[in-house]
Amino acid sequence: MRKFIVSLILAVVVWFGSGALGFPHVFQVMFVVYVGLGFLVFLLLDAPPVPQLSGWKALVALVGFYLLISGLYIGGAIALPQYDPNVEKEKIAKLLERRRARFLAKEHEVEELLQKVKALEEKTQTLFAKLNTFAPAPVSPVEVESQGRPMTIVERGKEVYELYECYNCHKIGGKGSVKKRGPVLDNIGSFLTVEDIKRKILDPAYLYAEGFEEEHKKGRMPDKYKDLMTDEEVTALATYLSTLKDPTAKTPRPIFVKTDVQHGFTVFGHVRDATGKPVAGVKVKAVPKKKGGHAASATTNEAGYYEIFLHMHNEDVGTTVVVSADGASQEFVAQFDPADKVTKRQHSVDLVLRQS
Ligand code: HEC
Repeated sequence: MRKFIVSLILAVVVWFGSGALGFPHVFQVMFVVYVGLGFLVFLLLDAPPVPQLSGWKALVALVGFYLLISGLYIGGAIALPQYDPNVEKEKIAKLLERRRARFLAKEHEVEELLQKVKALEEKTQTLFAKLNTFAPAPVSPVEVESQGRPMTIVERGKEVYELYECYNCHKIGGKGSVKKRGPVLDNIGSFLTVEDIKRKILDPAYLYAEGFEEEHKKGRMPDKYKDLMTDEEVTALATYLSTLKDPTAKTPRPIFVKTDVQHGFTVFGHVRDATGKPVAGVKVKAVPKKKGGHAASATTNEAGYYEIFLHMHNEDVGTTVVVSADGASQEFVAQFDPADKVTKRQHSVDLVLRQS
């Protein structure tokens, strides 16, 4: 009786203990059954001794006992709840399936949203393209806009100057370039036209500041702006710099190096598609409309920028030049002062392709 009570208490403790530890029901039942088995073993120990057997009786008793114990063991094992890997697999599969379905639904949603964004982007692009056809970029816009704020093109140019950190190497109004790496720009407007400044920014090899030969040869001024700046930015920046005309400033004189001024005329600009995106790798042709005129061509770079060098002499002044690329074309009249042997002879032409 004492052993039964102890076993009962033990069973209760094991049941609640394993429950508190988070074991599943099946295990709780199993632990209690083990306590029960322990109780049975103690009962067996208390049982009166079996009379001694010998001969074939002993053999039968031994085999009988073996069969009884085996039967109990196997029967008990069968009666107990079984662990079936397939059942578990199925459960896991079910869980995963629900998650996967949820994930797929989310993915689908994201895809739909992305498609909507794309459609909107296309819409705004076509709208921009339409707006562009209504209002082609004015030759010298006085009012421009930056982030919705109206400002003059000179103010915008100052903003671009700050944005691209030209002040790291240049000084304007005594500010910037602590390391004196590049020339002071306060009087640059007295030497260079908007067009020339644009070219210098887009191609630093185009000209150099007198006294800065060394720096020029080493390519100190970065040759990256043609890939970074939009045409609007370059134009605004150049327009701003062209207003800097302080004769007391020590801005060095620019010296043109790229081409022999008297023998050439450079046509340069950007090619864009109807949405305003630069078109790379398109062949641009410039044809002087004159007997014996030499046509020339160039291919646009990644920024849609091209540069064509035409052989044109002093007597070619006033020649009409046709610039074309992929169906789009524009004409201009080559104007320059034949007596001026310093200023670069050039004209910029931006082309818009009908379809990309
Ligand atoms: C890492 C230094 C560096 C940066 C940044 C830099 N430049 Fe320069 N720049 C120079 C040097 C050096 C020269 C002189 C050598 C030469 O002309 O190539 C120069 C020359 C010039 C000249 C010719 C000046 C003259 O008197 O003839 C102009 C114009 C100019 N830079 C404009 C700009 C603008 C605009 C920017 C910003 C978009 C800029 N630079 C950014 C180093 C720099």
